[in-house]
Amino acid sequence: KLAPLIAPSILSADLARLGDEVANVLAAGADIVHFDVMDNHYVPNLTFGPAIAESLRKFGISAPIDVHLMVEPVDDLAAQFAKAGATYVTFHPEASRHVDRSLQAIKAAGCKAGLVFNPATPLDVLKYVMDKVDMVLLMSVNPGFGGQSFIPGALNKLADARALIDAYVAKNPGREIRLEIDGGVKTDNIGAIAAAGADTFVAGSAIFGARDYASTIKAMRAAIAA
Ligand code: DX5
Ligand code: ZN
Repeated sequence: KLAPLIAPSILSADLARLGDEVANVLAAGADIVHFDVMDNHYVPNLTFGPAIAESLRKFGISAPIDVHLMVEPVDDLAAQFAKAGATYVTFHPEASRHVDRSLQAIKAAGCKAGLVFNPATPLDVLKYVMDKVDMVLLMSVNPGFGGQSFIPGALNKLADARALIDAYVAKNPGREIRLEIDGGVKTDNIGAIAAAGADTFVAGSAIFGARDYASTIKAMRAAIAA
């Protein structure tokens, strides 16, 4: 079992003070920076591109950056984020014409690659590309906005994804594949989410909406461990 990672989504940060917000949330105990990229095409909202990731690196942020692409097409932006210093690049399979090629390109660019599944999207493509996947990200809201409520059906889907990953890793020792959950994660449901099999936890509004980032992250870790 992999050590749990807390991944604050900067979508809910005070974007006018982004560098300080990211530094503060890392100082408060976060592990990785979740970076939501929206294009007003794949999702009906618009956020930030590779220049912002590059600026965070120049500002001195050295923690892993977990780029969640909600864009269509995928490949050009994935390459730009790799150049900008992304650690993980994940994308929605239905947004890429050639999923295997996109995964290969992300890995060739030196990043860890992952696939993101919307609440109603089946996991079936996963089994054909498991050898190229370092992260499986399950959406527990429909993508596009922070602050939505957790869709309970995601718990059963986490268990399904956990079983697929465990079966693959049992046959391929040494492979590390993270199972990340994104959307509506709070201190009061994160324990059940961990029990269902997640090891990487995105939280936007629950962390950046709290007055004290450190005590919120601490409470999340305690609930995961319980
Ligand atoms: C939604 C994004 C999420 C979102 C999570 O499209 O992928 O990362 O910011 O926000 P909360 O934690 O507020 O649901
Ligand atoms: Zn996200």
